[in-house]
Amino acid sequence: MKDYILRPMTLEEVNDLVTEAEGLKDFLPSRAKPDKTIMPLMTKFSKKDYFKIYGYVNAEQKVVAFITIFEENGSIDIGPMYVCKDNRGMKLGFKQVEDVIERYKTRGVKEILTQTWGENQASQGVFAKCGFKIVEIVENDRVNGDSTVKFKLEI
Ligand SMILES: CC(C)(COP(=O)(O)OP(=O)(O)OC[C@H]1O[C@@H](n2cnc3c(N)ncnc32)[C@H](O)[C@@H]1OP(=O)(O)O)[C@@H](O)C(=O)NCCC(=O)NCCS
Repeated sequence: MKDYILRPMTLEEVNDLVTEAEGLKDFLPSRAKPDKTIMPLMTKFSKKDYFKIYGYVNAEQKVVAFITIFEENGSIDIGPMYVCKDNRGMKLGFKQVEDVIERYKTRGVKEILTQTWGENQASQGVFAKCGFKIVEIVENDRVNGDSTVKFKLEI
């Protein structure tokens, strides 16, 4: 696991994973933005300076995971994160969030925000394991009626 080093990535580098995620419908759009699935979101934000993509490549240099960050003044928001289907359950998702925490801690960031949806036990498990606390649950917030669960970590 120590061989996985988090590094900045371009949208082109993570394109195959975003396509995989889109195909699996792994990301639920919110009720307010039902057309905003992962691909259009990533395409739109990849042009913004405050949006960053990081990820891991494996020994064969294949991109196997990515995580996105919205940089605010003194805090950050974790956006879509993804581990390719074949590599799940190996702690890569956990390591990716831990590596983001370390990276931004050294830059003086004091607070990290993120959100997911109620049925997403995997991402909630990752955030809980990384020390995030639930700060709000917005009921019936997703296209399928699921809730949005908001998390915060003070570092
Ligand atoms: C969410 C995701 C990134 C997790 O990545 P992962 O590498 O499979 O997760 P990890 O192996 O690091 O798991 C860390 C912890 O998360 C929890 N977890 C992971 N997968 C889980 C699952 N399927 N069900 C319940 N809890 C799960 C567990 O607490 C786990 O710790 P444990 O193994 O000690 O019990 C991955 O499942 C994924 O890409 N899902 C599709 C996209 C998505 O949902 N992204 C998040 C949207 S906000």
